[in-house]
Amino acid sequence: MVPGTPLAAPEHQGVTLHRDPDAGYTGILAVHSTTLGPAVGGTRLWTYPDLDAAVADALRLSRGMSYKNALAGLPFGGGKAVVLGPPPRDPAARMRLFRAHGRAIESLGGRFVTGEDVGTTPDDMETIAAETRYVAGRTQGMGDPSPFTARGVLRAMEAAADIVWGDADLGGLRIAVQGLGHVGTSLAGLLHERGARLVVADVDPHRADRARSMWDAEVVAPDDILGVEADILAPCALGGVLDAATVERVRAGVVCGAANNQLATANVDARLQSRGIAYVPDYVANAGGVVSGSVDIAGWDRNRMERALDGIADTVRAVFARAQGEAIPTGQAADRLAEERLRTEAGAPPSE
Ligand code: NAI
Repeated sequence: MVPGTPLAAPEHQGVTLHRDPDAGYTGILAVHSTTLGPAVGGTRLWTYPDLDAAVADALRLSRGMSYKNALAGLPFGGGKAVVLGPPPRDPAARMRLFRAHGRAIESLGGRFVTGEDVGTTPDDMETIAAETRYVAGRTQGMGDPSPFTARGVLRAMEAAADIVWGDADLGGLRIAVQGLGHVGTSLAGLLHERGARLVVADVDPHRADRARSMWDAEVVAPDDILGVEADILAPCALGGVLDAATVERVRAGVVCGAANNQLATANVDARLQSRGIAYVPDYVANAGGVVSGSVDIAGWDRNRMERALDGIADTVRAVFARAQGEAIPTGQAADRLAEERLRTEAGAPPSE
C-alpha cells in the first residue's frame, strides 16, 4: 500500500491518513510515542461528524495509550487507529475494509501494533492479520481482551477499597455497574463471585434483566445509575460520563471502572477529590486489556502477563500515594507518574 499522507501533529511521532476508495476505507494511524517500544493501541471503528473530529480522537486516544502503557509497565509506546464509519453491513465489505486497514498498518513496518477497540472484534483482527503481523487480540491468540480488562478493574477496586476502607475484600460492598457490555458483564460476574451486592444499568434492558436473574442484581434506569448510593461506582459504558453536573450526583465513595475518558473535563478530577470521592484514573484501572496483549505482541508468557495484571493494584497504590504526597487529584498524579516513566526511559532500549 502507498504510504499514508502525513498529518500535522507536533506532539506525536507521526500521524498518517490512509485511503483505499475501492474498499471504502479511510483510516488514521496515530503514533504518539515509541519511547518504550512499538506504539500499541486499538482500532476504533466509529462514525464521526467529519475528518477533523476523527483526527482529534486519534490524537487524544493515542496519547492516552502512551500513558496507559507506561503506567502498566509494558514495553509499549502509545498509538491508536481510527477507521471512519459507518460500518459496512455486508460481511464481504467489512472484510475488504479491514484488509485495507491491515495494509495501512503494514506500511508502518511495525512502528504501530493494533488490537480491538470500540466497534471492532477479534474477527476483524483476524482479517487484519491476513495483511500484517502487527495485530493482537486475534481469535487464535489471546482473543477478546475484555475479560482481562475486567480482572484489572477488579484488582484496581480491591486496591482502592484497601486504601479507603483498610480492607481489600469487596464482599458485602454495594457496587454500581454502568454498562453491561463485554467488560461490565465480566466484571459483574467477578464481583458477584466475591460477594458484592450489584446495582446495574444498561440502555439495553435485556442485559440488565440478565444481570438480575444471574446475580440477583438490582436494576435501575440508565439515567439513575450515576447517582445511586453505593460503595463503588464502576462506569463501564461510554466516556465523558462525569461532567460538572453529573459529578455532583455521585454518591459512591470510590469511582473505579473500565470506561475510557470517564471525566468530561480535567477539573472533574479535583471536584471528586474535594467531595471526598476516591477516583481511580480510568487508564490505570482499565489497562488489563492491553496487558493481555503483551502475550501476542511482546511474547510474554502467561505468568508474566498475570503478574502485570496483578500489578495494576500496585499502580493504584502508587498513584494514591503520589496524590496524597503532593496534595493533587489522582488523575494528575497518574499523569505525572506516566510522564516520569516516559522521560526516564527515553532513549533506553525497551525491556524485553
Ligand atoms: P461494549 O460496547 O461491549 O459495552 C458497553 C455497554 O454499555 C453496552 O452494553 C451498552 O448498551 C451500554 N451503555 C451504553 N450507553 C449506556 C448508558 N448511557 N447507560 C448504561 N449503559 C450504557 O463495550 P466494552 O468493551 O464493554 O467497553 C466498555 C468501556 O470500557 C468502553 O468505554 C471502552 O472504551 C472501555 N474499555 C474497554 C476495554 C475492553 O477490553 N473491551 C479495554 C479498555 C477500556
